[in-house]
Amino acid sequence: PFSASDRHDITHLWEKMAPNVEFLGEEAMERLFKSHPKTKTYFSHLNVEHGSAAVRAQGAKVLNAIGHASKNLDHLDEALSNLSDKHAHDLRVDPGNFHLLCHNILVVLAIHFPEDFTPRAHAAFDKFLAAVSETLYSKYR
Ligand code: HEM
Repeated sequence: PFSASDRHDITHLWEKMAPNVEFLGEEAMERLFKSHPKTKTYFSHLNVEHGSAAVRAQGAKVLNAIGHASKNLDHLDEALSNLSDKHAHDLRVDPGNFHLLCHNILVVLAIHFPEDFTPRAHAAFDKFLAAVSETLYSKYR
């Protein structure tokens, strides 16, 4: 359950991110691939080199899904149902990878929105990304 201040901070950070999902998403994906190279194996059919349009597009998709989730905090299961099926059944992403991506999203927020990324907002967004991740791997078994 998200408190009123969680909701405020999550919505506020999403509003900061929304105009720049390509740029921010690309950086989060690039940091994920650089710090955890094994995650690249899921994207072996895409060009994951620095500056790749595919990485930018993927980063934007991930952040837009997070934006959608931020507007559906009370029913993440329904809001992310298709995405959850896809990650569990088609992509078969190991659940252990989600926190790595979430961490890199937080790093990008901290770098680009230092004023907004207060300890309280950090905690709220961390909780939110963990809830999104849990929803995405809830269908694995
Ligand atoms: C595809 C979101 C975590 C691997 C996608 C798509 C979205 C998305 C929106 C596009 C789906 C579509 O086109 O129908 C998310 C979110 C995540 C997350 C919100 C967690 C917060 C991960 C992780 C991995 C991963 C941790 C693996 C390390 C993939 C792959 C695709 C994909 C391989 C397909 C890429 C392609 O072929 O175009 N994800 N994802 N995802 N995701 Fe995730």
